[in-house]
Amino acid sequence: MVEAWYMDDSAEDQRKPHRLDPGRPVSLEQLQQLGVFYWKLDADKYENDPELEKIRKEKNYCWMDIITICKDKLPNYEEKIKMFYEEHLHLDDEIRYILDGSGYFDVRDKEDKWIRIFMEKGDMITLPAGIYHRFTLDETVQNL
Ligand code: LAC
Ligand code: NI
Repeated sequence: MVEAWYMDDSAEDQRKPHRLDPGRPVSLEQLQQLGVFYWKLDADKYENDPELEKIRKEKNYCWMDIITICKDKLPNYEEKIKMFYEEHLHLDDEIRYILDGSGYFDVRDKEDKWIRIFMEKGDMITLPAGIYHRFTLDETVQNL
């Protein structure tokens, strides 16, 4: 089950969970109201997965590429890590499927408050066009 929560606004390390105390969890229904959708899939069979194919067909998602967010595998790693965490929006939906590892997608709710969504292997998410968001790896990486 996907876990999401409202973030504190400390400027501490972006890789930390940044939960409020007491916590303010965000449900799947609340995410859906923002147009954010979530699926759990079997990442080990992403190359041949009827369930993934069905979603892609229904939603008309025709483009796909794979990146490895890792210092020695991603060209311009530092620059990209910075870009991913800069608040931004797109004119199209953003569709992301985590094949391995984990990280956080942050989205702004309708009152501009940040919601942090934990994503790990097998998690797929779509963010609607026009929603402000950002991404970071989590503390499973030593340094960014
Ligand atoms: C992107 C994510 C990081 O635009 O928001 O790829
Ligand atoms: Ni984006």
